[in-house]
Amino acid sequence: MTHAAPLHVAIMAAGKGTRMRSAVPKVLHPLAGRTLLGHVIAALAPLQPQQTLVIVGHQHEAVTAALPAGATAVRQEPQLGTGHALMQVKPVLPPDSGTLLLLSGDVPLIRPETLTRLVAHHQEQQAAATILTTRMPVPGHLGRILRGPGEAVEAIVEAKDAKPEQLMIDEINAGIYCFDWAKVSPLLAQLQPNNAQGEYYLTDVIAMLVAAGEPVRAVITPDWTEVMGINDRVELAAAGTVLQTRINTGWMQAGVSLIDPATTYIDATVRFEGEATVWPGCLIQGGSVIGDGAEIGPQSQIRDSLIGARTLVRQSVIDQSRIGAGTQVGPFAHLRQHADVGADCRIGNFVELKKTVFADKAKASHLSYLGDATVGTGANIGAGTITCNYDGAKKHPTTIGERVFVGSNSVLVAPVTLQADSYIAAGSVITQDVPTGALGVGRGRQANIEGWVWRRRGQES
Ligand code: UD1
Ligand code: MG
Repeated sequence: MTHAAPLHVAIMAAGKGTRMRSAVPKVLHPLAGRTLLGHVIAALAPLQPQQTLVIVGHQHEAVTAALPAGATAVRQEPQLGTGHALMQVKPVLPPDSGTLLLLSGDVPLIRPETLTRLVAHHQEQQAAATILTTRMPVPGHLGRILRGPGEAVEAIVEAKDAKPEQLMIDEINAGIYCFDWAKVSPLLAQLQPNNAQGEYYLTDVIAMLVAAGEPVRAVITPDWTEVMGINDRVELAAAGTVLQTRINTGWMQAGVSLIDPATTYIDATVRFEGEATVWPGCLIQGGSVIGDGAEIGPQSQIRDSLIGARTLVRQSVIDQSRIGAGTQVGPFAHLRQHADVGADCRIGNFVELKKTVFADKAKASHLSYLGDATVGTGANIGAGTITCNYDGAKKHPTTIGERVFVGSNSVLVAPVTLQADSYIAAGSVITQDVPTGALGVGRGRQANIEGWVWRRRGQES
């Protein structure tokens, strides 16, 4: 989309976040697959700003390292309040830069459409400043919007500085603004920290603009949940619930059945390709993509994995792996580190796959560990088959050809190859390659010692 004036973005992310009581910077706490700051940056995508500046201070190295390409860190040292944060933008953004959209890194649920509406209104009105506001049922510690005659915005008063009657105001400052940078940047030098918190309040700029006769506007978002600020872990969890409801609602409207949305955790970064059913207690995370007609759960965790169309995953953990179409997984399977399972396979209970390629129509129905292995089309891995892929120092590959039958409770000591159409006798320890069409037997021959029990008991049979 195009804008009348060039659009620049700054995100305030320098604060300490004391109330999180965390070694992790507040804006890097995760919420449904992204950091708080990551959500704010993701919401900017449709606006295509000319540049995105992120004001960093407390733990600036960690926050800077987490920035995506295209975002630029600006240091604030020390952190003397939101007004002081914005002062740091002056050296990098000339006054004639156009519109500055300023966001808070701790207000992560903001919707792209709301930002688009804010910027459009600001530019249409040719305002000096436009504040995003909402009406909050419990406005708590948030800044209140003071309006004068004709409902014109006059000032923002912080809760800690507010008179009792001002605290009754339920219209609050979301911490998201549009500024005509030419008009706002010269005022920042006049901010004074003469308030309850001894900070340079960005919000004081509003009254200064009004006093100068500059037009100040507000855009009210009807959904107060999208501007929830996160200051502690209680608010983090509350925002998580709101975001999860939003994500789940979106997928249900798109044709995904969530049997119990309240216990279904789908990251913002996950994609469903068509219809699917998700049973209760599932976590679908990261870059996972769920195919059309797939059925997930109950109680499954799928992270950074691709699940094929019509595939069924019950009570299983799937991490960084790929599963083809029409395959059945679980209950109680564990696929990890690039397990690559084909179509129409069967991965049954207590089967673990690690870095294993498992071709179409192959089966491992019960109790197996297959690590660093390649399993050919139509192979059948018997119950209890284990690849000994690790010798204590190195990992070694196991290659199992097409249509191989591995009898139950076999141990395949890698590196080893079972050629196509070979057959392994149950209970074998296989240490040598098995040629195509051969039977590999690697176990002691059974001997029955007649009468042994009776002799031990000192009895005659
Ligand atoms: C701020 C607003 C308040 C608004 C609320 C919305 C001010 C004075 N108050 O209050 O009106 O209702 O947000 O959530 O602006 N930050 C810096 N550098 C600093 C201080 C803060 O970058 O020196 C960053 C923080 O990391 C945070 C954001 O600015 O991302 C907001 O700061 P915070 O201290 O959380 O302000 P609030 O008290 O929430
Ligand atoms: Mg805050």
